Amino acid sequence: MKNNADHQVATVRQPVSDRANGRPAVLGGEPVFPEGIPFMRPTLPPWEALADPLRKIIESGMLTKGRHLEAFERAIAEYLGVKHAVGVSSCTTGLLLTCLCLDLHGEVLVPSFTFMATVHAMVWQQLTPVFVDVDPETWNINPAAAERAITPRTTAIVGVHVFGNPAPVEELERVAARHGLTLILDAAHGFGALHHGQPVGRYGHAEVFSSSPTKLLVTGEGGVVTTNDGALAERLRVAREYGNPGNYDSVLPGINARMQEFSAILGLETLKMLEENAQRRNALAARYQERLATVPGISYQKIQPYDRSSYKDLTIRINAAQFGLDRDQFGIALRAEGIGTRQYYVPPVHQHTTYRELMTQQRPHLPVTEALAPEVISLPIYSHMPAESVDRVCDAIVRIQTHAEEIAAALSAQRER
Ligand SMILES: Cc1ncc(COP(=O)(O)O)c(C=O)c1O
Repeated sequence: MKNNADHQVATVRQPVSDRANGRPAVLGGEPVFPEGIPFMRPTLPPWEALADPLRKIIESGMLTKGRHLEAFERAIAEYLGVKHAVGVSSCTTGLLLTCLCLDLHGEVLVPSFTFMATVHAMVWQQLTPVFVDVDPETWNINPAAAERAITPRTTAIVGVHVFGNPAPVEELERVAARHGLTLILDAAHGFGALHHGQPVGRYGHAEVFSSSPTKLLVTGEGGVVTTNDGALAERLRVAREYGNPGNYDSVLPGINARMQEFSAILGLETLKMLEENAQRRNALAARYQERLATVPGISYQKIQPYDRSSYKDLTIRINAAQFGLDRDQFGIALRAEGIGTRQYYVPPVHQHTTYRELMTQQRPHLPVTEALAPEVISLPIYSHMPAESVDRVCDAIVRIQTHAEEIAAALSAQRER
């Protein structure tokens, strides 16, 4: 991975204890990362691994629908232990086409604590999203809440492996089976996640992965739909080609959602790195938790003992009363230290402008989601992030928390000016 410049971030400027004891940058101290640390970076194979196959693509002129996509799909299906993998142009198009190919209509139960694309894909298929609350510990869709939200118009449940933490797939399958519903899993964050020691990708009627640059397996832009249903896989292959089965007499209103050969090559190479990437992220997440163990007011998404998260994101929850700063104040203090963060998922999707009108009719009751959203913040994590960078982020957090009272006073004085 010599082409990933972030290894250089490891240069230590001062001994750890001095940095941890210094004044936070938001109060005028020296930033822990004067050079900045990004929230994420894609972890990519060395150029040498890509050069030869890329050259061959250019020479052959086969830019799409070639043998690399077929090889990528076979390799993914084998790795995930599922019968069919259909490469698509993104997880969003994969979700959309899955809804189309499964002939869904009416209402779909979906968490609001997710990325907007989960919901937008349903809406593109004229489905009505009905938002369901998440579990306060795992932050994944709550199967009991989903079951309570079922109406005669409900046709499907969409679970999400949020931040790479496997959704409660067996419980969701049981709810779906009891009520004759389709179950789809948005596995955008799923590459690298394990459930009972096996990769996710085999649950529900279909799972839909993303392989965009923020994920553990990268194809540039791209996604994969996985299913054990051969007829569905066939339909998806036609749907990603405008619905054209080959004779130009379309059988469904598909779109162009093909994965390019360039992407498939990148996917084949990053698949080789997937297990190592997942292990590294788990080690980094464990290191964060260890280094922050004595900091009050920080809690984590619960990963079940029989699961492994991909840690596509490491999102923490800030209890303002215990930490001394609220999430937004903490975010400002981290930014002053040169630390990139995100607020996933804020606002939750049911509070997006897009859904304002629909929500005035639905008035969803989502107390867990609404309590979670103002308190979450995602910290830097990427597969080749040096452990030393985690230590430095944690040093910054420790000194921010130690000076919480002073920071809160300074920020509120600033606001009043
Ligand atoms: C939960 C979730 N679903 C869907 C998507 C959309 O994925 P893509 O960018 O591949 O369309 C994302 C993007 O990160 C996501 O986080």
